[in-house]
Amino acid sequence: MDKTLKITGYGDDLTVNGIRIGDLSPQQHEDIELEKGGQNYAPLENVVVSRVLDSSTLICRKPDPTHTKPYIEEELIDGLCCYSAVNQGQLNQEIVDAVVAHLTTEQIPTVPRSIRHKYMAAFLLAATEVTKMDKVVPKVAGVEAPELMAKLSRRWAYQKKGVPQDEAIILVAEENFHGRSLFAVSASTDQESKEGFGPFLPGIEAIPFNDIDALERKLIEKGDRIASFIVEPIQGEAGVIVPSDDYHPRVAALLKKHNVLYCVDEVQTGFGRTGANFAHMLYGVQPDLMACGKAAGGGIMPVSFVAGKKDIINVLTPGSEGSTFGGFPLAAVIGTYAIKTLVDAALAENAKAMGERLIGHFNAIKAEFPDKIKEGRGKGLLTAFEMFNAPHLNGHKVSLGLLARGVYAKETHTNIVRLAPALTVRNREIDLIGEAIREVVKSL
Ligand SMILES: Cc1ncc(COP(=O)(O)O)c(C=O)c1O
Repeated sequence: MDKTLKITGYGDDLTVNGIRIGDLSPQQHEDIELEKGGQNYAPLENVVVSRVLDSSTLICRKPDPTHTKPYIEEELIDGLCCYSAVNQGQLNQEIVDAVVAHLTTEQIPTVPRSIRHKYMAAFLLAATEVTKMDKVVPKVAGVEAPELMAKLSRRWAYQKKGVPQDEAIILVAEENFHGRSLFAVSASTDQESKEGFGPFLPGIEAIPFNDIDALERKLIEKGDRIASFIVEPIQGEAGVIVPSDDYHPRVAALLKKHNVLYCVDEVQTGFGRTGANFAHMLYGVQPDLMACGKAAGGGIMPVSFVAGKKDIINVLTPGSEGSTFGGFPLAAVIGTYAIKTLVDAALAENAKAMGERLIGHFNAIKAEFPDKIKEGRGKGLLTAFEMFNAPHLNGHKVSLGLLARGVYAKETHTNIVRLAPALTVRNREIDLIGEAIREVVKSL
């Protein structure tokens, strides 16, 4: 027995070797994370979330200005909802009820995929229906879904298209974000995410996003060896880059002509976020494969999957691909109820209406401060505003200003601030977010 480690209590009483988390100040949390954790994130300074109050309000701890207590607690409207992982709203009652029933009444949390469990059927029925696809392969983290699309498209290229072994090319878009695996960073054009992680996977080529001529040139040049084009319908991490309306229909037509798979990464844009159940549906196109994640787990746990046409998914054979927790019983239940909530609560419709209202706020702020705001943009509730390039128009400063006014949002790049609240938000929250942004922009 390890006598050096003692863990007791729950909640604020959770105590590890005499350190009770309810006693820690925001600074102490930061110190522990800096000393004991890897520095792969730079979280907002001086704020620690302690719980949620409702579907889009966080309770967080901030330094006590009087220095008498370790912290004070304040409400924070969640303008990001975990980068679209909580589209259904925090602790969505229907999903929580399903989890509780599952763990307490049903009592089947975990079995491996080598034995069937009864919830897989429900998940596959729901997921194929909502995605309008033939087949679905469950995975866990978001990054695993585009990774699997890459593997599927390579195998399809060799087995079905006749590309010579090991010569398949996967096209990606510049400024993409597909996660942090070696496939994803090999596909990335962001030097910060690649530095020191080479050698990268061969057979991946990037073309500019929203540039149909660049795609056509590449297809004419190397189409017989190109397996797929993996692309986000709207680039989220790049700063909510919305392509022209005819881009995806033309991409779909060109790829079909050259027998190249059209693979959309909807990890961030899926599950109602952009005002349609899946963003490609905004453009009336039918992809061959689609990657989903984030809100597929209903804000409770990581659930991801690839949905696709059967002749492509069918290149998988037992032993060729798998995942211990992909589609395990609890994930299958949560995934099913995440889909049920998406449909029953008409999340996409609300995203469309509330997104228009939020972009209306951006436009009003731009009209009031035309020298500061360059553009407000987005689809549904995947939105951002971009400021002009100037030292005082700093995205991080905006995030801190919003935090002081009770709104959580985070800059992406130096002059872009992304807003992607839960899809359950109503006028009140949108107007509070809009007013807070106006005040901060005014103060810059
Ligand atoms: C389009 C896209 N793909 C993949 C990922 C990776 O998802 P995860 O961080 O859950 O691995 C993200 C995350 O932001 C994303 O936006």
